[in-house]
Order: sequence, then C-alpha cells, then structure tokens
Amino acid sequence: MRDGLHARLRAATAPQHEGLERDLDWRARVATLAGYRALLARLHGFHAAYEPAIAQALADEAFLASRRRLPRLKADLRHLGLPEGELAALPHAEPIHLPNPAAATGALYVLEGSTLGGQVIGRHIGALHGLTGDGLAYYRAHGPATGAMWAAFRARLALFEGDPVGEAALTEAAVATFAAMRDWLCAEAAARAA
Ligand code: HEM
Repeated sequence: MRDGLHARLRAATAPQHEGLERDLDWRARVATLAGYRALLARLHGFHAAYEPAIAQALADEAFLASRRRLPRLKADLRHLGLPEGELAALPHAEPIHLPNPAAATGALYVLEGSTLGGQVIGRHIGALHGLTGDGLAYYRAHGPATGAMWAAFRARLALFEGDPVGEAALTEAAVATFAAMRDWLCAEAAARAA
C-alpha cells in the first residue's frame, strides 16, 4: 500500500511526462551554450512563478527551502553571462491556482520529479560544454542526494494516502502543472504541430 498514491499519481501523469519529454527537444536545445542559456531562461520564468505559489499554499518552508531552484537558475544564467538587467526582465509564467497544501504538493511533485531525469540531462550538458559546478547548478539539483530527496518527497506524498479529496487535488494540480510547463517550455513545438 506504501506505493498506492504514488503509483496512481505516476500513472495519471505518465502521458504528460511522455509529451513533455518528446516536445522539450532538450538535446537539440542544449547543443549550443546559447541554446542552453535560453532553455534556462524559460525554466527561470516557470520557477519564478511556481515557487512562490507553492510556498504560499504549502506553508512549509522547512520542507521547501532545499527544493527551491530559482537561486540556482539565476546563478547559472549569471555564470553564462546573462546581464543583470536582462535577468530581471525575463518573462514569468502564470501559475495555476493552488488552493491548498495538497495542490501545492502536486505542483511540487512535477518540479521535484524533474530532478530525476535532470541528472541525465545535466551530465550530458556538463560533458558537452565542459561545465562542472558553475553553470550547471539547476540540473545538478540535489546531486548525490537525489535519491534521498526523492525518498523524502515520496514520504510526503504518502501523507495524503487514504485522503481521496487531498489525492484528487494533488493529482489535478500535478496534471495541470505538467500541462502548463509543456506550454511554457515547448511553445515552438506546439506551434509547429498546429
Ligand atoms: C522539465 C521536464 C520534465 C519534468 C517536469 C519531469 C518530471 C518528472 C517526474 C514528476 C518524475 C517522477 C515520476 C515518478 O513519480 O516516478 C520524473 C521521472 C523521470 N524522468 Fe522526468 N521530467 C522531465 C523531463 C525529463 C526528460 C527530458 C527525461 C529524459 C532524459 C526524463 C527522464 C526521467 C526519468 C528517467 C525518470 C524516472 C527516474 C526514476 O524512476 O528513478 N524526464 N520526471
């Protein structure tokens, strides 16, 4: 039963994950440093909108603090030479409505889950562009602690086990966050498909 809610959540969001993985086209986008910087700038806009929204609805900074990646995105963009004025002027996404801690947990599931595949992407970018720590902080994310951080996140998900209303809010927010992220990161792919 330990995996019940998590297994259902993973199944409910699997089509979104597949769609994002397909449309993100990350290998092509990180092939040049300029392309990598542009991708980080889009991710910055998403995290800049969602982290405050999640923080407000979750109301648990002790849990969230080490999972915030906006400072990492800013550090990477600065390292890659983005001028301070341009960093401040980057566009932000519009966050979905997160009415309660369950919904915030669903949105955070998407951001935290991205640290898993992000390990593969980060290693690829590091090798391609000769980056180790600086410039790679967002994708390095929890680094060697990735497994432990994911286990702790899964324990948090399990708190909503046996709470159908909470699970519904959590799942709905996760699906909506995936969809919003796909729109925000893959606008060009969507335009091509239209
Ligand atoms: C920004 C885009 C992405 C987001 C938001 C995202 C989100 C997620 C989430 C939520 C999970 C957790 C699934 C679970 O509950 O077990 C996950 C797992 C995973 N993702 Fe992604 N993902 C993204 C892009 C990618 C890409 C491009 C790849 C391909 C390299 C990838 C590879 C993986 C892998 C391999 C796992 C499973 C890791 C494991 O089970 O140990 N992801 N991702």
